[in-house]
Formats: sequence, C-alpha cells, structure tokens
Amino acid sequence: MTQTDELGQSRLLVVGLGLIGGSLALAVKERGLCREVIGCSRSAETLAQALKNRVVDRVEADLTMALGQLGAGDIVVICVPTLTVPNILQVVKDATSPEVTITDVASVKGSVVSSVETIYGGIPAQFVPGHPIAGSEKSGINAVVADLYQHHEVILTPLEQTGADHLARVRALWQAVGAQVSEMPAEVHDKVLSATSHLPHLLAYTLVDTLADMEKNREIFRYAAGGFRDFTRIAGSDPVMWKDIALANDTAIVEVLDQLNTRLGDLRAAILRGDSDHLLGVFTRAGEARRHFQIMQDQKPYMSSTEQSMDYRVEPGGRMMGDMRVPGDKSISHRSIMLGAIAEGVTRVSHFLEGEDSLATLQAFRDMGVVIEGPDHGQVLIHGVGLHGLKPAPGDVYLGNSGTSMRLLSGLMAGQAFDSTLTGDESLSRRPMRRVSVPLSEMGAKIETGEGGVPPVKISGGQRLQGLDYAMPVASAQVKSSVLLAGLYAEGETSVVEPAPTRDHTERMLQGFQYPVKREGNRVSITGGHTLTACDIEVPGDISSAAFFMVAASIAPDSDLTLRAVGVNPTRIGVVNILRAMGANIALLNERDVGGEPVADIRVRYAPLQGIHIPEDQVPLAIDEFPAIFIAAACAEGLTVLTGAEELRVKESDRIQAMADGLVSLGVDATATDDGIHIVGGRIQGGKVDSLGDHRIAMSFAIAGLRAEGPIKIRDCNNVATSFPNFLELASASGLALSEVTR
Ligand code: S3P
Repeated sequence: MTQTDELGQSRLLVVGLGLIGGSLALAVKERGLCREVIGCSRSAETLAQALKNRVVDRVEADLTMALGQLGAGDIVVICVPTLTVPNILQVVKDATSPEVTITDVASVKGSVVSSVETIYGGIPAQFVPGHPIAGSEKSGINAVVADLYQHHEVILTPLEQTGADHLARVRALWQAVGAQVSEMPAEVHDKVLSATSHLPHLLAYTLVDTLADMEKNREIFRYAAGGFRDFTRIAGSDPVMWKDIALANDTAIVEVLDQLNTRLGDLRAAILRGDSDHLLGVFTRAGEARRHFQIMQDQKPYMSSTEQSMDYRVEPGGRMMGDMRVPGDKSISHRSIMLGAIAEGVTRVSHFLEGEDSLATLQAFRDMGVVIEGPDHGQVLIHGVGLHGLKPAPGDVYLGNSGTSMRLLSGLMAGQAFDSTLTGDESLSRRPMRRVSVPLSEMGAKIETGEGGVPPVKISGGQRLQGLDYAMPVASAQVKSSVLLAGLYAEGETSVVEPAPTRDHTERMLQGFQYPVKREGNRVSITGGHTLTACDIEVPGDISSAAFFMVAASIAPDSDLTLRAVGVNPTRIGVVNILRAMGANIALLNERDVGGEPVADIRVRYAPLQGIHIPEDQVPLAIDEFPAIFIAAACAEGLTVLTGAEELRVKESDRIQAMADGLVSLGVDATATDDGIHIVGGRIQGGKVDSLGDHRIAMSFAIAGLRAEGPIKIRDCNNVATSFPNFLELASASGLALSEVTR
C-alpha cells in the first residue's frame, strides 16, 4: 500500500482555519485524500463559514473533544499563529493518543520545537515540525484556495526522536496536495527563512509605515507606481502572524537586520561621497543575484538542488555547410576577467565567452568586490580595483567545473592579504592541484589542498612571496599562469621554464595591460610590483570549439564550412597541424592580429583522411582537441597512434578511457594505452555512449553522428554549456541532426 492509499484511511483534524489551515483542509477534501476532514477553531463564525464554503466535512468547537475522536493513522495539523502554538500543544498533549501524528505549519521552527520539549518534557515520536512555504497577503477563511500548495515547497524539520512512520505520513499528506517536500534541521530553516521571508516582510511593513507616518506624504501614495507596489505588496499580510514570527525568530532576525543596517549605512555614506563605483557594485551584484534566483526559480522549485539531466541524440548522416562564428576563447575569457579585475581603470571585453566556466571566474571576482557589468551579448565592463584592491569573498569561492579558474586563482589568491578557499563540482574536486600548490609553496605561499592533492584549495593570505625560478615538470599553461600571477605579488623575479611550448595567453595579455614580461626561448619572467593598466580586449573565437566543426566538415562528404575570427595563436593550432597531416583540407584566410592575438577565418572542406602517428610535440598544442581528433581518426583510413598524452587522463574526465569506451561501444577498434590511444578507422555504428559529464566528450560523439550508421545517444550533456553554450544551435544550423533529450 502506498502512503497515499494509507492516507485514505486517516482522519485529518485541522486546528485553526485561516488561509493556511483552511487551504490544506480544502485541498484534502476536494481531492478526497482522507476519510474525513474536521475543522476546529475558537471562532464560531469561522466554523460556520468553513462549513458553508465546504472547506471541511464537519467542524468541532471543542478541541479536546475533537482530539479524543482520533486514533492510529490520524493526523492533527496545528495551523494557528506561532505564539499561540504552545496553548494548543497543552491541550493536544492531554487529549491525543500517541499513535496520532501531530504536525504544524508555523514559520519559525525553533520556538515550536522548544515549546514541545517544555510541554511534553521531551520530543514525542508523533511530532513532525513542518512549514509550507506558501501563502499570500490575504488571510482568513474566505481567502482559502484549494491549490495554494501546488508546486510550492514544504520544509519538514524532523528531530532525532521523530518516528519514521509519522514523518512518512506528513510527507505523503503534503505531496498529495501538490507540494514538494524537503527536510532540514530547524536551526537552518529559521536562519534561511529569517533572511528570505521574515526580513522582506519587516522591511515592507517599515517602509510603508515610514511613508504613511508623515501625514503630508499620504499624498505621495497617489503617485506610487510599480516599484512601490512590487516592494510593498506583502505589507498587507496578517499583522498578528508577523508579530508572532518576529518575536519567535528574534535571534536570527536581529542578526540579518544588523547586517542590513550596516549595508544601508555603507550605501548612505557612498551616496554622500558620490561613490558611483560602490553604488554600481551593489546594484550590479544584486541584479545578477536576482537574475540567478529567477533562473533557479524557473527551472526548479524553491531550494531544490535537483537538476534535470540532458542527453543528446544525433541522427546519422548530413554534411556541414555555411559560415559561422564560434563563441569566444575560454582561456582568454578567464584571463580577461582576472587581469581586468586587478588592473587600474575600466577594461572593456567583447565577445566574452558566456559559458559556465568563464562565468565562474566572473562570479568569483564579483564575490571579491569587483564591479563587473554584463555580460551582455559578449560585452563585459570590468572596473579594475588594482593589484591590492580585492576583498575577501563572503564564503568559499565556488568554481564549478573550471580547472583553469581554480589553478590560476590559486596563484592570484596566494598574493592577497586575506584567506580564500576554492571549491568546485564533483569533476573538479577530483583534479590534481599539487602541480600549483607545490611551486606556490616554494614562493612562500601558505596553501593546502584536500587529501590526495585535490580541491578544496585553502590559501592563507598575508604571506610574503619570493620570486622563483621554476622548471615546470608538466607542460601546463595553467601551472605557468598560476606561478606568473603569484609573481605579480612576489619580491624579485619569477621565471617559469616550460618543457614544451604551452598556450601563452597570460604572457600576451599581461603585455596588453602594459605589464613588463621578459620572454627568452622557453623561459618567461616577470618582476613583482608593477601595475596593470586597463585596456580593451576582443576575445577571438575559441579554436577548441572550432575544432569540433573542423573535424565535422573534414569527415562529412560534400561539406564546406567557414569559421570566422578564430584564434590561431601558434601555441593552440595543434589541431590544424594534426588534421592537415591526416589529409584534411583546411585553409587559414584573412590572417590578422587582434589585440595581440593572431586570428584567422578557417575554411574546411571534406577530404578523405589517413591515420597517422601524432607527433608528440603537437600534444600540448592540441591538448583540448584530442576527443574531436579521435573522431577524425575513427573516420580515417588505417591506424592512428597517440603517445605522450597522459595529461588527458586528468582533464574534466579521463578522456583517453572515456573516448576509448565510447568508440568501442560504437563498434570502432580503439585501444587505450597509458599515455594515449590506438584507433583503427572504420565503420561507426549507432549506439549509446556516456560523456561522463565532460563537455568535450559529449560534443565529439555528437559530430561522430555525421558518419554513423545509426542514431547515437550521448548521456549527460549538460556540461556542454561550460565551454560552448550554443553548440546545439550552431551544429544544427550547419547540418548536424542533433537534438536534446531531457531525462
Ligand atoms: C588551459 C590550459 C590547458 C587546457 C585548459 C585551459 C588554460 O590545461 O587543457 O582547458 O587556459 O591555461 P593545462 O595547462 O593543464 O594543460
């Protein structure tokens, strides 16, 4: 029997027939969820109205009598104002059998729990504290509606002593009236609600009261427009209920009120001194937070953390045609925010990548007090605070899926006066961070990683950093950049020597910000103590995103595709070199320099490919493009061998294994090796593959569809948005039969 079937045998006694209690009674009655719905209220008038409006099956004026009629499986819901709960509990204790489930709806849980403890001398198993996050500024029995709880959140705050059967019954009751139920400890509930619900109500009441108080200002209500209406709607709520809430949740409310008072004081002072940066900072951060909240609200119910998983399905065949511009380069977008933030003046960025990864960097700097406007159609304005102007973030700095953000920020944070903790998602939390913590410690940074050298990265600020001459053991642009960023704050010279060339965007961009950089062969050096001067940055198209389309047009017969304004920095063009060596027809047209980075239009036409042994010197230059190159290899004639690429095993996923597994499940002869892969080109069957939440694995198998013999379903593709938010649109527009499937 399901919980809802069991409910059918229960009686429901609702004590207090206001909007909240009455709406629950009506929802249960209309849906026929319980054997009987009984209403109880001190007011004869309310009872009469409840009967008249058919909100309940019957009413009882005497609570003791009503409780005496209940037995095992029945439920009492206490729906009276918070401070009246103890009076009701006193009666409930004396008149209710221990098998009856008791729950409540009070907006403050701590005070209810302590009343229960006092009255019962402990917590009885039958008691399940609850709070539906629903309501309106209307109150009373005549405001009751049957769908008040539909798609609303109900928070239960069960205690250790709460019986599992009682908890399950209350959960089933709320779910049956359409609510989403979640659980949390009472103290957490009270803190969260003090900020998100109680404070806004107190503000609305106080604002209207302040204006109304000034007699002559009554006139101004006449001119009050949308802003006033939106802000003050909740000042029409039930005053007794809110008086009770304010007193019952006093500690948490006073704490947020104090925080708000300080912030209002800061705002007042900023207005007085004409500090437009402060105002813009508050308003842009708030606007961004509001937008984020709206996205959260639209996608999922209040405070729920479940996200829908999305898969790709690609139909076989097609060819790639047209002319397109891929999104901005991820590496350059990250760096534009970082350097813009610590520069003097306003940096203007265009064609910024609005992907999750670079947005994580952007958010991190907003959290550290930097005013950043946008992104708006790729335009971002960063109000630099100078090398020493960052402020501590209010909590951990969360960097999502982005390894670049975490490694580069580790270096930058090592030079700050304050402590920071950097965290990330599940994939990032598995990635190696010692490669940056080791050299940074050598510079004098105090930096700790989690066990096994993985995030979180904890950095203690206020350390004196010394310049370092670092011979990098892995060819990593992230490590190089991290050390150089720490070098901005170090005494003397910091040099990095790389074992093989890696992307040099940090060095180029530092020079763009007029910071002196010395480059001699494979050594790059900077000296601490200079300043960065704001500049304009036009982010080139990301060659890593273009790579999927280069491979796609190369493998699909009759394709002819042009990719506009792609970055073709020599440290990034491994993919062009490798595909050309395999026989691809790729032309770089209109080559030019844009803000210190080489850019070209890339025209790709179909050409039959041959397998090759990929030269190891190309590995760092194509490090992110191998998943796509493996698809080219699967479509080429003969064997392709990759060696010297063990780095691929510690990217967003183990890209060697993930690609080998996927290719094999599509019938391709692929064998993973410790440091690479062997792929024999041949037929690609349809089938199912798992991207393991790795954006580049997902997009690679999507383009494999062009040469597949049947549809390919690719699991777990949400993360494509980390680097290529409009991949589906661009791929579909140019000829790939790709669609999203939500699970
Ligand atoms: C990046 C460097 C590369 C690359 C990553 C971005 C950068 O990592 O894989 O996607 O922006 O510096 P490694 O430097 O660890 O090879």
